[in-house]
Amino acid sequence: MKVAVFGAGTMGSGIAQVFAAKGHTALMYASSVASAQKHKDKLAASLQKRVEKGKMTQEAVDALLANVLVEEKSACADADLIIECVKEDMATKKELLNELDGLCKPETILASNTSSISMTSLAAATSRPEKVVGMHFFSPVPVMSLVEIVYGLRTSKETIDIVDELGKSMGKRTILAKDKPGFIVNRMLLPMLNEAVQVLDEDIGTVEDVDEGMMRGCNHPMGPLALADMIGLDILLEVMETFYLDLGDTKYRPAHLLRKMVSAGYLGRKSGAGFYVYDEGKKIGVNPVLVKA
Ligand code: 3HC
Repeated sequence: MKVAVFGAGTMGSGIAQVFAAKGHTALMYASSVASAQKHKDKLAASLQKRVEKGKMTQEAVDALLANVLVEEKSACADADLIIECVKEDMATKKELLNELDGLCKPETILASNTSSISMTSLAAATSRPEKVVGMHFFSPVPVMSLVEIVYGLRTSKETIDIVDELGKSMGKRTILAKDKPGFIVNRMLLPMLNEAVQVLDEDIGTVEDVDEGMMRGCNHPMGPLALADMIGLDILLEVMETFYLDLGDTKYRPAHLLRKMVSAGYLGRKSGAGFYVYDEGKKIGVNPVLVKA
């Protein structure tokens, strides 16, 4: 199967990786061919580390990378499936889907990895709403075993069945969600992360104690503030804005500190600092601006 992934950030690269690992051709797109190549190089470097640790063979890495192609946009015209993972912004996603709708063969399924945006609205930007569907992966994509399939008002049963089968063939458990903000998982998870920021903002506990609280008290694999850093504080803010607007309840209002962190450029792991500071992807301590003198 030929799959094209638009957006080569954490999610896009991870999605391209899992498809390529299963023998599918994965076209990787970013803002330019040069930028996509940089993301492919980054993926190659991270896979090389797995070879050094004895977690993957060199042959498996070479085969995987041979399936990841960086090409001009026109190469996706005959893709069977396109997954967009671009900025979590309705206008940006609609513009891209509309362009892809004009570029691709009529059978191509257009999927979105959106965290919270309405699939029905995104589908309306195309002439094939029955072939538009949510394929929501979880970070880190190669590790997390879930794909949430989201159906819009006009998504066909055939499209749902195809992506459901595909998700299962990738070794993932699939769940089916109706098109409501946040679908199943993020509707529960992201308000909890926002509340953790609120708890910090109210000085109820320190960054480390908020995280330790949920790890040791509830057995979460990582604390909510560390997880927010991994997801991206800009994404958490955008999703909470969508919840607040669409669901209309003040319980979804983004925490004030979350807005300040994003305004200050602290976006989490990807910017080198969020609630924690990172060096080459490794957490090295709490962000000093959050430590009381
Ligand atoms: N990419 C690829 N592989 C990764 C990885 C990454 N970013 N991070 C960790 N791994 C792999 C490691 O290589 C290791 O695999 P191996 O045993 O084959 O070498 C395995 O995952 C376990 O990693 P570690 O031992 O280094 O670390 P942990 O055991 O602490 O696990 C974790 C790390 C998997 C990230 C774990 O802390 C976890 O599950 N955290 C919660 C993640 C979560 O909640 N994700 C959902 C976020 S919400 C979302 O994505 C939706 C979006 O719309 C917002």
